[in-house]
Amino acid sequence: MAELGVNIDHVATVRQARQTYEPDPVWAATLAELGGADSITIHLREDRRHIQDRDLRILKDTVTVKLNLEMACDESIVKLACEAIPEQVTLVPERREEVTTEGGLNVVGHPPAVKSAIESLQGEGIIVSLFLDPDEAQIRAAHELGAEGVEIHTGPYALAKAENQQKELKRLMSAGALTRQLGMTLHAGHGLTYRNVQPVARIEEMCELNIGHSIVARALMVGMQQAVREMKDLIV
Ligand code: PXP
Repeated sequence: MAELGVNIDHVATVRQARQTYEPDPVWAATLAELGGADSITIHLREDRRHIQDRDLRILKDTVTVKLNLEMACDESIVKLACEAIPEQVTLVPERREEVTTEGGLNVVGHPPAVKSAIESLQGEGIIVSLFLDPDEAQIRAAHELGAEGVEIHTGPYALAKAENQQKELKRLMSAGALTRQLGMTLHAGHGLTYRNVQPVARIEEMCELNIGHSIVARALMVGMQQAVREMKDLIV
């Protein structure tokens, strides 16, 4: 059964729109837990457009389920992660001008920044997952780099229509099978919604789904606890 990681970045985005104290992502994390979240995910971006350093520190103390920190392989962010020690880090690519993470990390050829980030984080006992496109060469490279997990990028699946979506689902399934075969845990995320999540949740040995936009959007209408509960009900 896949676990649900609730990404609360958008709550911080609303707070930062007014540079004020509300809504606090810490409140959202508590409500998400009460709704059944198995983990809380935050992305500490280099430009600090939503989650702030203080959020990471407080959430590390207050979240009682797993805290998953998404971050780029940037030296100063790796340092912060090694101080806060979340249970899991998901390494993602990052470009300042992007609206959200746009593609998987390129780990083929073992880029030194990725290798060094993995070594530093694992040295602190942090589980490292890599956000990758559903591509065989990337997944094999993740294994060679010693990553414990792979989060496969579901964005193209989420955007595809009709038979193309089936094609994208097959790519996710093959990538998932290879990830498991190499002994890494299988995660997935990006663009997942109440409508498209079920086929991904049913991929064999899917361990964790990270979902943000769709849950926070529904939470605006029905409240965070209910929005999380409804998503949990779909993935069990
Ligand atoms: N996984 C990763 C690596 C991401 O960067 C994001 C977006 O922050 C998500 C999952 C969640 O995507 P969405 O907000 O589309 O559910």
